[in-house]
Amino acid sequence: MNDIHNKTRLPGPKARALIERDREVVSPSYVRDYPFVMSHGRGAEVWDVDGNRFVDFCGRNRRVLDGARHPAVVTAIQEAATRFLHISSDYWHEGQVKLAEAIRELDPVSGPAVSFFANSGAEAVEAALKLARYATGRSRYIGFLGAFHGRTMGALAFTASKYTQQARYFPTMPGVTHVPYPNPYRPLFAGDDQGRAVVAYIEQLMERKCSCR
Ligand SMILES: Cc1ncc(COP(=O)(O)O)c(C=O)c1O
Repeated sequence: MNDIHNKTRLPGPKARALIERDREVVSPSYVRDYPFVMSHGRGAEVWDVDGNRFVDFCGRNRRVLDGARHPAVVTAIQEAATRFLHISSDYWHEGQVKLAEAIRELDPVSGPAVSFFANSGAEAVEAALKLARYATGRSRYIGFLGAFHGRTMGALAFTASKYTQQARYFPTMPGVTHVPYPNPYRPLFAGDDQGRAVVAYIEQLMERKCSCR
């Protein structure tokens, strides 16, 4: 498609060349949905290396909703980088404390909250799994069919959005039972209240498996 936003057929020649180079040297385990090779972005718009311009409806969790390069975020990163680029989690620094204070101000849970900072979604999921086990002393978990939680071994045990994600990695972490997610649009259970139906299903499961709690 050629129009005022697209200067080439998609993907353009520079994008195709870079994807070829990538194929030689980058792990094929990255899942790419569409051959978009980014050059730069502004707000909700992104440009590829051939100068084609797109509206970004796909940034999602990979680029938070303040856009491609919000000036306040760019300035904060530049300012922090002039002081130091890395510090081990063995030590303290004010930026981490200030961020945790700001999160507590948002009042995310009732009562005083402390923050744990992770490098990725999967690492946050791993931390949550360990925290749940540590705090409850229980060994079993419930995951939802259709959900994506990441690709590290613990998170992968929960990920159930595509068969291919777990294929060839069995056995995954034991102790995870998947149940349907309540979906009023495509209901799996009888009745109007899919939420209650799923809770009843989980209770029945727990009765049958109570020796494993
Ligand atoms: C709901 C959810 N949890 C976890 C993850 C894993 O995050 P990451 O790719 O940063 O490890 C994703 C990533 O798409 C996600 O959408």
